[in-house]
Amino acid sequence: MYLGIDIGTSSIKVILMTAEQDVLASATAPLEVMRPQPGWSEQDPNAWIAALGGAMDILKRERPAEVAAVKGIGLSGQMHGATLVAKDGAPIRPSILWNDGRSAEEARRLDADPRFHEITGNLVFPGFTAPKLAWVKTHEPDNFAATAKVLLPKDFVRLYLTADAATDMSDASGTSWLDVGKRAWSPELLAATDMDESRMPKLYEGSQATGTLRPALARLWGMAGEVVVAAGGGDNAAAACGVGVTHPGAAFVSLGTSGVVFAATEAFAPNVESAVHAFCHALPNTWHQMGVILSAAGSLEWLSRLLKEPVPDLIGHLGNTPDYPAPVLFLPYLSGERTPHNDAAARGVFIGLAQESDRATLTQAVLEGVAFALADCQAALAAAGTTIPRYLAVGGGSRSKTWLTIMASALNTPIGIPEEGDYGAAFGAARLGLLAAEGGDPAEILTHPPLADTIDPVPALSEAYRDSYERWRALYPAVRDVMR
Ligand code: XUL
Repeated sequence: MYLGIDIGTSSIKVILMTAEQDVLASATAPLEVMRPQPGWSEQDPNAWIAALGGAMDILKRERPAEVAAVKGIGLSGQMHGATLVAKDGAPIRPSILWNDGRSAEEARRLDADPRFHEITGNLVFPGFTAPKLAWVKTHEPDNFAATAKVLLPKDFVRLYLTADAATDMSDASGTSWLDVGKRAWSPELLAATDMDESRMPKLYEGSQATGTLRPALARLWGMAGEVVVAAGGGDNAAAACGVGVTHPGAAFVSLGTSGVVFAATEAFAPNVESAVHAFCHALPNTWHQMGVILSAAGSLEWLSRLLKEPVPDLIGHLGNTPDYPAPVLFLPYLSGERTPHNDAAARGVFIGLAQESDRATLTQAVLEGVAFALADCQAALAAAGTTIPRYLAVGGGSRSKTWLTIMASALNTPIGIPEEGDYGAAFGAARLGLLAAEGGDPAEILTHPPLADTIDPVPALSEAYRDSYERWRALYPAVRDVMR
């Protein structure tokens, strides 16, 4: 038996998987995001531990014998979050999350130092970890001085599980401190933010073991033998392991709180000009590219909160497939944007509102605005040399066929829907847990899921979206200066 643990932004998910990769049970526990100031986004690291405990209680109640037989655990989590811990491992302050824009100034300063592009192959986005540490150093010098280790969210949970300060290459790629081509911390970049390697977790490949479960926790959860904990991956690389996107030509589109167009690449393939993320994958000697938008399903959840109507009901207003693009356009930049604008100060926009604009119009505008933003990501990957023949659908938002039809038509690319089941980041993490505990050939373990369906672009809609996308793309440059 193997466990996959994913520390998401809105919830924690744990799945229990057999050696044959059947998912026997899963449990989730919700998490809250704190927004103490506009543009900020934080979580209490201890809430991750409490939520994990809650999810484990459910699994233990449902499947005590199988939980007792767990041999390996894999970890996955929201990337980039700056989680500062003191010498005793206690969090010093709330974790500053991937969609927090406070360090825009610091990011700009670091990004202007040519070494960051040269060594990391990536822009320094405000959501990445290094600029956040630069912010803490300026605004909370006592916290900066007290920081013994800077961990990523899943690695804080690892510290609790095994007492090891360790991370994996895919998550480390999002810190702005990793030499991504060499798969090693860059002492030079660490020094540029008054940091050094002693304050960083040890690096592993995602399928390697970083330690074993503490005996006290093994006892608490009723686990009999030694339990190996795998390095795992950032949630996107872990999701890629879950759906077998580990070789060139394979790609997924993810509709979680964030939205991601992700492709495995032949080699390390950076292209800072298009704001593409060029990162290590969670397997040795593999890399990937991705375009990331900060509010995908997050935009729809925002609308659902505002209109006080659950997301499925909102989408239900549209019927199966819209015949025409909405007359209203929406920029989904509620938390700023990464690909392609790298603009933490950007904000959401509806344009074209009229007396007749109703819930259905606004909902369609949001679904299309997110699809167009992901079309921008697809274009960013194309500019970086990666064309995508087809996608697999990943993330909660992909449960809507209406949204996937809009998406396939806007991206003009077919999207495969995995059969009913769990193929996301927690499943990918469990697979990495299995590899770490048992060894084996990743190509044989990290296979593609069986497909329930493929959503093809609707030709008339694709044609109509070409025009809407052009108008939508003109919107951001037109309103950019009005937003700040
Ligand atoms: C990736 C990113 C998001 C988070 C969401 O760069 O910031 O996809 O990982 O959990």
